[in-house]
Amino acid sequence: MRNLEACRGGRRRAASAAAVMLAVACAVDPSGAAAAEAGKVRVGLMLPYTGTYAALGHAITNGFKLAVSERGEKLGGRGVEYFTVDDESDPAKAPENATKLVKRDRVDVLVGTVHSGVALGMAKVARETNTLMVDPNAGADELTGALCAPNIFRTSFSNWQPAFPMGKVAADMGHKTAVTFTWKYPAGDESVGGFKDGFTKAGGKVLKDLTVPFPNVEFQALLTELASLKPDCVYAFFAGGGALKFIKDYAAAGLNTRVKLYGPGFLTDGVYREAGAAAEGLKTTLHYADDLDTPLNKKFRADFKQRTGREADVYAVQGYDTGTFLLQGLDAVKGDVGADKALVKAWEGLTIDSPRGVFKLSPSHDPIQDIYLRQVTGGQEKLLGVAHKALADPGTGCKMT
Ligand code: BEZ
Repeated sequence: MRNLEACRGGRRRAASAAAVMLAVACAVDPSGAAAAEAGKVRVGLMLPYTGTYAALGHAITNGFKLAVSERGEKLGGRGVEYFTVDDESDPAKAPENATKLVKRDRVDVLVGTVHSGVALGMAKVARETNTLMVDPNAGADELTGALCAPNIFRTSFSNWQPAFPMGKVAADMGHKTAVTFTWKYPAGDESVGGFKDGFTKAGGKVLKDLTVPFPNVEFQALLTELASLKPDCVYAFFAGGGALKFIKDYAAAGLNTRVKLYGPGFLTDGVYREAGAAAEGLKTTLHYADDLDTPLNKKFRADFKQRTGREADVYAVQGYDTGTFLLQGLDAVKGDVGADKALVKAWEGLTIDSPRGVFKLSPSHDPIQDIYLRQVTGGQEKLLGVAHKALADPGTGCKMT
């Protein structure tokens, strides 16, 4: 998609010797293969590096760069140039930030982001400019649902995906009633929707949905209300700094010994060590578990630790898998990012060998993957089993055109 523009741009700018050579090459080879050889693959990383999701953005970036460095800093045989924007998890700034990467930096592919609302704004720019976009976290259901597009791919999850199995898990534990608690934005709403879907199908009843605006972490008043509702259990969606604060506040209010708290794994990933005793016993569902017993997961965790000094989490895995996804797709088209149809076809057919286990993409470009049940025990997040095998998001409303 992008290097055909390089050919057009090369013709417009044919003043320098290099531009003349590029223009000649493009005239001889309009498919853009010559342009592909002409330079580095330009990767636009649009992620949060400040705010409540900062740690997530850094983990994704580190995971992505680890995958690329394992392959000699090359994608499809070409070097890589990174262009980075801190999106601050601010949906209002998303169109401008994404446009900067596409128009000013002329990136070949947009990689981002974490926050569902920001991802929706970014995807709008990707659709309008026909730029390839790979989403390494944001779960906005619509991205691989009604707003799906041939040039938009997700290597992470839909918000519904890890939440739905938790509904059945909670019901199977004998809980009849639940209260939900989340930030009021698409990811929170959709995660709660997934949980309700699973819980009510299994016979449970949700008494009330409690919300705070994103990224507010003043939970006290609603925790008091929650206690008065006396549910059998609570389902909460929070992540990053907000998840850490929620887990601590929940325990400080004495609720952790009275009302079982569940959530998607974002509630504990990256924060359970720091939460300490407040996180003990928490059960969550997610498409990753630290202690998955595979050679790739062990190697990935060791390499990530060595490179960053940090323990890997689901965000690091998603970054790593996004790097692998780009590597394998660009290898298939020999680095020619302009071979759009061939690249899309290659990505649609890929089997990704991930630290989370092997996965492929659904027709709407979202991973079909196992969802694991985990529990924080003795200061470690332990795998309890598979909550749902090979779960595919329904991709509701997706029509690829
Ligand atoms: C989201 O906004 O989609 C999201 C953010 C953090 C963790 C999981 C999902």
